[in-house]
Amino acid sequence: MCGIVGYVGEKQALTVVVEGLRRLEYRGYDSAGVAVVCGDRLETRKKAGKLANLEVLLGSDPLPASTTGIGHTRWATHGAPNDVNAHPHVSEDGRIAVIHNGIIENFAELRAELAADGVLLTSETDTEVVAHLLAAQSPLVGGDLAEAMRQVCRRLEGAFTLVAIDSEQPNLVVGARRNSPLVVGRGEGENFLASDVSAFIAYTREAIELGQDQVVALTPESIVVTTFDGEPAEISEFTVTWDASAAEKGGYDTFMLKEIAEQPRAVADTLRGRIGREGLLQLDEMRLGDVELREIDKIIIIACGTAYHAGLIAKYAIEHWTRIPCEVELASEFRYRDPILDRQTLVVAISQSVETMDTLMAMRHAREQGSRVLAICNTQGSTIPRESDAVLYTHAGPEVAVASTKAFLTQVVACYLVALYLAQVRGNKFGDEIVAILRQLSDMPQKIDLMLDTVEPVRELARAFVHARSVLFIGRHVGYPVALEGALKLKELAYMHAEGFAAGELKHGPIALLEEGLPVIVVVPSPRGRSVIHEKIVSNIQEVRARGALTIVIAEEGDESVTPYADHIIRVPECPTLMQPLLATVPLQVFACEMATAKGHDVDQPRNLAKSVTVE
Ligand code: G6P
Repeated sequence: MCGIVGYVGEKQALTVVVEGLRRLEYRGYDSAGVAVVCGDRLETRKKAGKLANLEVLLGSDPLPASTTGIGHTRWATHGAPNDVNAHPHVSEDGRIAVIHNGIIENFAELRAELAADGVLLTSETDTEVVAHLLAAQSPLVGGDLAEAMRQVCRRLEGAFTLVAIDSEQPNLVVGARRNSPLVVGRGEGENFLASDVSAFIAYTREAIELGQDQVVALTPESIVVTTFDGEPAEISEFTVTWDASAAEKGGYDTFMLKEIAEQPRAVADTLRGRIGREGLLQLDEMRLGDVELREIDKIIIIACGTAYHAGLIAKYAIEHWTRIPCEVELASEFRYRDPILDRQTLVVAISQSVETMDTLMAMRHAREQGSRVLAICNTQGSTIPRESDAVLYTHAGPEVAVASTKAFLTQVVACYLVALYLAQVRGNKFGDEIVAILRQLSDMPQKIDLMLDTVEPVRELARAFVHARSVLFIGRHVGYPVALEGALKLKELAYMHAEGFAAGELKHGPIALLEEGLPVIVVVPSPRGRSVIHEKIVSNIQEVRARGALTIVIAEEGDESVTPYADHIIRVPECPTLMQPLLATVPLQVFACEMATAKGHDVDQPRNLAKSVTVE
């Protein structure tokens, strides 16, 4: 939530900063702003709305040349998304500019204190207080911006990433972080700061992860990291494994279309290097030992949004393969309900961005109770992996579209790997059974590819239903979370009422919603092995049809039992029940994406959303 970028070096800072903001815009797009140091003064430009609005402003009111600058793209928390509340915020004397991501919880108290001192606050934001506090602190520490930042940060409560520049120290950018993300990019004769590496990946792949409660001072030649107390801090350097092209649209109209198309490769990458010569799993990165894994007697998955749906699917596989009881919980609810946790509980935190504050806080709560935490993540370089006992990366590559697609599929696969690894270590399954399931998983990239080749009719369907008032989704077993995910995608992208239900629950209430012509999408599991859930859902389709609703049925190739009751059929390649979510989700993503396009919505940046939700 909120994108931050800072640059100091030899290039035109504005070019680097605006390009960085373009890559970070998925984090929030309520307003955008930049500040540069030129000579002995600061200049800022800021504008409500998307970055494009700021670019228009910069066209009519250009900034002078400068090699030190900062930029911000906002997801509003404190104060309406207007020009005044847009960042950067500048001290009264115009000397110091600040950008911020997070929430300063004691801002009201600080604001009152500043107002009592006669400071005129012009915005409604919590951020502005930091600009004034830095200006007040600076003369007390000999004008040293980094030291002023350390002192001010010690007074702040909440979660924040702050980046500041000072017209009296023109070749310096100072950043600070507590809980919210901030990474440094190390260049040659230039250095970068950003919320994530995509902002500077075009210039350098060498990055430094900042730890909790640290301040970094960047000049073109140096990177100095200290704690809030001024002690030298240990830094953790890493090289980004993907390049700038991975964060481009690559010929697709939208990032979402590109990311949907990337799913076969993404799933293959999640599996890559994890299946050993004998066909068994080797998870070298699993920092939990076999003894610890054998001790686990309960698994709790915590996540938000789409990642939560991945967790719901994983539960079916985990319990089936490992016989360990598994609960799945929304991270935002978890820590407030006094969950029963101990050393034998494995908490699995799923987060694509590794920044979701709800997930981070839930995970910390679990660790405080002595539980082991395993994180399933996509992005490198932040708090969630660092604070976990073990991490499994999905290797999906950067996901830019706000609505998650490839991250979801790869999270399901990563969870399956964890389940199988547990089954392998604990002996719940024979080696040959594990080998067989891993083969099924290894077949999935090719099947997802086949699925993608046949989605054109799904696009037509989406266009045909563009004026529908509502769409319902139903499924059973793993088809139920798929239904939830299909509905979420439609809400996020098409801004329409959409709900997913367990098909069996339909007659316990939601059936009252059915009316003539209402589209109901039904996820049907494989009919093979005379599955009971298959039979039951065929009855559910009939119940829906009998009430005049229109049935769009997602069913396996060759499953003719659904044909008489389906107004439209979407076919998925044959595969075992637990693998089907990896296929059945794909047409639902395409459906939502096409529906949003037909309605003229911004598919990559839906209204009101942000990809990384770094506030609770
Ligand atoms: C936000 C995004 C969703 C995402 C959720 C969890 O709400 O808009 O697409 O599923 O956060 O994100 P995470 O990065 O923790 O997986």
